[in-house]
Amino acid sequence: MTRNGPILRVEGLETRFFTEEGQVNAVHGVDMEIDDGEVFGVVGESGSGKSVTALSLLGLLESPGRVTGGEIWYRSAELADSVAEETPTAVDGDYVNLLGLPDRVRRTLRGTHFSMIFQDPMSSFNPSLTVGEQIAEAVEAQQRARSNPRSVASRTQGYGLGQYLMSFVSSSREYVSEESRDRAVELLEMVGIPDPVLRAEEYPHEYSGGMLQRAMVAQALAGEPNVLIADEPTTALDVTIQAQVLDLLDEIQAETGMTILIITHNLGVVARMCDRVGVMYAGEIVERGALADVFDSPVHPYTQGLLGSVPDLGGSSGRLQPIAGNVPSLLDHEMPDRCYFADRCPKAMEACLQKPPELPVDGAAGHTAKCYLAEEPFDESTALPDGYFEDGSTDAADSADASGAAEVASDGGESE
Ligand SMILES: Nc1ncnc2c1ncn2[C@@H]1O[C@H](COP(=O)(O)OP(=O)(O)O)[C@@H](O)[C@H]1O
Ligand code: SF4
Ligand SMILES: [Mg+2]
Repeated sequence: MTRNGPILRVEGLETRFFTEEGQVNAVHGVDMEIDDGEVFGVVGESGSGKSVTALSLLGLLESPGRVTGGEIWYRSAELADSVAEETPTAVDGDYVNLLGLPDRVRRTLRGTHFSMIFQDPMSSFNPSLTVGEQIAEAVEAQQRARSNPRSVASRTQGYGLGQYLMSFVSSSREYVSEESRDRAVELLEMVGIPDPVLRAEEYPHEYSGGMLQRAMVAQALAGEPNVLIADEPTTALDVTIQAQVLDLLDEIQAETGMTILIITHNLGVVARMCDRVGVMYAGEIVERGALADVFDSPVHPYTQGLLGSVPDLGGSSGRLQPIAGNVPSLLDHEMPDRCYFADRCPKAMEACLQKPPELPVDGAAGHTAKCYLAEEPFDESTALPDGYFEDGSTDAADSADASGAAEVASDGGESE
C-alpha cells in the first residue's frame, strides 16, 4: 500500500441485470484495492463479470443493469473538496464514494479522472472526422469538464460507453483551437504514431487496427486521467501489434505514473503487465494478490486450473484446454448454495457444499482466495468422489457451455 492509501477501494460491489428471465447477479460482492500508480489486472474467462465491473466503476451501465450495492471509494482531494458541500455523505477525508455522487458529477469524471480504452477502437471514433480533430475535441471537452462540470453533462446526456467520447465531437468543431490541435499532434506522437502532423489530418479508416488502437490511447490520455481502465485492449490485435500496444501502455505508465486497471482473459497480458491481479469467476474475485504470489503459488483451484493449462505464459502458445464442467448460472433463483466452482473443482469437499466460502478480510493488499483451502491444506481423503456431480446434485450447473475457459488464453491474436 502506498503512503496515502489506495487510489481506488471497491467494497462489496454488486451489479445486477433485471431481465425477463429474472435477476442476473453479474457481479456480487467484488472487493479490490488498487494502489496509486500500479497496474492491476482483472483476469477471468468470458462472462465472469469483468466488463460489468469496469462499467460499474465508470457509471456506464445501461438498463437493465444497475449497481445495487457496495461502495467505490476514489482518492482525490480535489474532487472531495468540490463535492463535499453538495454530497457530504459521499466524502470521507480525501476519498469520495463515486456511488454517492449524482450522475451529473460522475459524467464529468469520465475522461478527466478516469478514462477507458476497449477492444474495438472503431467504436470510439467518428468515421467522418479526422483523428486529430477528434483528439483535439477530447482535449477541449476535458478542459470544459474541469472548469464547468455542467457543460459536459449536457453533451453526454444519454450516451453509453462507445458514444461518450464521440459525443464530444458532435457539435462543436468550430471551437477546436489551434492549441488543442497542437496538443492532439503531441499526443499522437506520444503514442508512437509516425508523422503525427500528417496523420492527424487522416480519417479513422485510413489507420491500421494497431495505429487506431494507439490513437484511442491518445484520445484517452487527452484529459490526463488518473486512472486508465483498459478492457481487453489488445484482444483484437495480432500478437506483434499486441506486444507493441502493451509496450506503449508500459511506457505511458512509467512516464505519467498513471494507475492502470487492465481487464483481460489473457494470462500472458497479466504476467507481462501487472503488479497485482484479481482472478474473477462467476461474478466474484476468487483470488487476488501480488502477481508473483498468485501466479507462483495459486491457492484457488480455479486459478490453479487456469495456470496449469497454460503451457508457456511468456510465449506464443496455443489455446487452453477448457477446465471441465459448467459455469454456474448467475440467475438469482438458480445460483447454488455452495461454492460456485464446486461442480468443476477437483478438490471439492463436503464443506464446499454447505455454503459459498468467503474472501478472508485480512489486509486487502495481501494474497487471499475465496476457497476453504485458503485456510487449510488440501487433504486428498476429504475430496468428493470422482463423478459426484454427474451422479447427483447438478441443479445449478446447467447454464453456459463448458468452453469458457478456452477463452482465457496465454497468447494474443484471438478474440472473445
Ligand atoms: N445486458 C445484459 N443483460 C443481462 N445480463 C447481462 C448483460 N450484460 C452482462 N450480463 C451478465 O453479466 C455477466 C458478465 O458479463 P461481462 O462482464 O460482460 O463478462 P466478461 O467477463 O466477459 O467481460 C454475463 O455472463 C451475463 O450473465
Ligand atoms: S471452496 Fe471447495 S469447491 Fe470451492 S474452490 Fe475451494 S476447494 Fe474447490
Ligand atoms: Mg468483457
